[in-house]
Amino acid sequence: MTSRKAIRSQGADGLSAYLENQRNLIERALATAVPAASVRPATIHAAMRYSLLAGGKRLRPILTLAAAEACGIKDPAKVLPAACAVELIHTYSLIHDDLPCMDDDDLRRGRPTSHKVYGEGVAVLAGDALLTRAFALLTDISPAKRYPLSVLLEETALAAGSLQLIAGQVADIEAEGKKLSISDVRFIHERKTGAMIVLSLRLGAMIANATPGQLKAVTQFGKALGLAFQIIDDILDVTQSSEQLGKSAGKDLKAAKATYPAVIGLEPSHKQADRLTKKALGALKELGFQSVRLHQIAERLMIRGS
Ligand code: IPE
Ligand code: IPE
Ligand code: MG
Ligand code: MG
Ligand code: MG
Repeated sequence: MTSRKAIRSQGADGLSAYLENQRNLIERALATAVPAASVRPATIHAAMRYSLLAGGKRLRPILTLAAAEACGIKDPAKVLPAACAVELIHTYSLIHDDLPCMDDDDLRRGRPTSHKVYGEGVAVLAGDALLTRAFALLTDISPAKRYPLSVLLEETALAAGSLQLIAGQVADIEAEGKKLSISDVRFIHERKTGAMIVLSLRLGAMIANATPGQLKAVTQFGKALGLAFQIIDDILDVTQSSEQLGKSAGKDLKAAKATYPAVIGLEPSHKQADRLTKKALGALKELGFQSVRLHQIAERLMIRGS
């Protein structure tokens, strides 16, 4: 059981130090996960590194490491290729999401967007190259008994593909300017954002040879957390400044995007995110004491400011 006492004993400070430590591990691994900026043709590698190494919360790789830890892995090195892979796919999705033909954004992770710096052609290709490289990275994993490499690759392809991430992105752009029901917005959010969050957790659990019960718990946790995460992203777009976010605020309203605040209002959106976070925490029970970090991360995401 994840007892309140166990959570308190690792404390809020414990979480900040843990997150910083994980981020450092991830940053170092990401820096060697793609070719050096001098490798010919230098432009594409510089562009890949520009977006990948621009910071960001590193939520998805942190979840991969934490899920593996919760399922018994002690050495994060075993999980880092998968942690990097999900961050590469996420970064690709951001580069493409910002293109003029999609959300048309100028600012990302506190910097001008890829297409502003490298032009649209190279930005598209940098996204393609990050996505492709992610699959090569996954082949560095030594898979556990229950989950062969083919399963990890297939799940990754599914989450990033036209039934999940791409499905959500397509539905998102098609929804612009339309009046959607909340279940339609949920369809978008579960796919464009939730699927990669679930994948991040499942990869960690599978590398740790999770039992079917543990994998189910991690999946239920991820589904609720992923939806809550995108609802909060929608809320922050309304309530925060561009400086705070490192990306242009207030864009969803301007582009008439299908968001939770647009459909049900700000306060009910907060309540939904809160309810989903509680649901996510409930799903962790199966993982027992070792899921303290996942528990703390979910609570921290509720009060994030960017
Ligand atoms: C932004 O993701 C896009 C969404 C799916 C909401 P993050 O908020 O995780 O962005 P970074 O990685 O921290 O920049
Ligand atoms: C993006 O959702 C989701 C993906 C990149 C797959 P948003 O369009 O809301 O993300 P931001 O707000 O630009 O980061
Ligand atoms: Mg978008
Ligand atoms: Mg966007
Ligand atoms: Mg957004």
